[in-house]
Amino acid sequence: MSTIDPNQILLVIGNEEIANYLMEQLIIGGGYSVTIESNISSALEIARQGNFSMVITQIDTGDRDAERLIKGLHEIDPDILVVGFSEKLTPELLQEAAKLSVSDIITKPINLDRLFFCIKKGIDVHSMLSAGRRHNSILKEQNASLQKQNILLAKRIEESTKNLARLYEDLRSTYMRTIRALAQAIDARDHYTHSHSLNVSVCAVRVAQEMRLSVKEVESIREAAELHDIGKIGIPDFILTKPASLSPEEWIEIKKHPSTGAQILEPLTFLNDVIELVKQHHERYDGRGYPSGLRGEAILLGARVIHLADAYDSMVTARSYRLVPFSKEGAVEEIKKNTGTQFDPSVVDAFLKVVDEL
Ligand SMILES: [Fe+2]
Ligand SMILES: [Fe+2]
Repeated sequence: MSTIDPNQILLVIGNEEIANYLMEQLIIGGGYSVTIESNISSALEIARQGNFSMVITQIDTGDRDAERLIKGLHEIDPDILVVGFSEKLTPELLQEAAKLSVSDIITKPINLDRLFFCIKKGIDVHSMLSAGRRHNSILKEQNASLQKQNILLAKRIEESTKNLARLYEDLRSTYMRTIRALAQAIDARDHYTHSHSLNVSVCAVRVAQEMRLSVKEVESIREAAELHDIGKIGIPDFILTKPASLSPEEWIEIKKHPSTGAQILEPLTFLNDVIELVKQHHERYDGRGYPSGLRGEAILLGARVIHLADAYDSMVTARSYRLVPFSKEGAVEEIKKNTGTQFDPSVVDAFLKVVDEL
């Protein structure tokens, strides 16, 4: 739609005499630009190409031409103001005019003051309506563009979140590989305990699965078992590999390793569930373990599982202080003997069901 000129008026009046009179008055008295057209189709075409803010048209009761013109005009510009001109004003005409959204009706004899007032009022209303419509359409455009930006932003946030999650997973797995390598290096300091952490992990995971623990709990147990002796890094070689019994002072050193391990892992916040399992892996079911002397269910279930797996692997592999290991059957007997004291009976039950697979 072209820009509306508030001074442009289209006159669609068949009566040439009245049309000319109105045009003269509007031009001379009101300073308006006026276009006259008597044919409805041509008037609509002119309205489509022009920029009129107002149309004054002949209207009579049951006048189909006027109805076609006014409806057509409103299709071209929903805000266009239409003033009707009629020889005679009747209630039926008023009703019809209201239905067609005709803003005013002027009748013969034409009162010029009233006519100019109608035109002025109509033009003001038209510019207000047009401004409101323009404003609405700008708001709609801005809204649509904001919605597009929102969708784009949401997509970017989603991608960034995915990237961050990937980065976090990469970082976590790099940390885990490093720390696992450290745990294996600590195992390897004493060639008798080579692969100990791995063996404990395999056994503990199998028992945990048999106990129907959740996937998350089993994963924590796997990681904790792989790292359970990492605190031994602080124990001198001569104690770790001593071929004889340990002195009370040396035992004190050994008993520090669960807490030292937990301290080493503490900065790795993603290992939160694992750290306490590492700290508790030497707690005994009867409360005679270390470092805290926790008893029964006060010990995390995962730690009770790792404790049994740790003891089993220690028994079935040679050690510097015991070169001949237990046989599998011997180790099982030993574990059965210590059920309810050193070991949690429910963990032993699950272990006995899977020991043949180990
Ligand atoms: Fe240990
Ligand atoms: Fe161990």
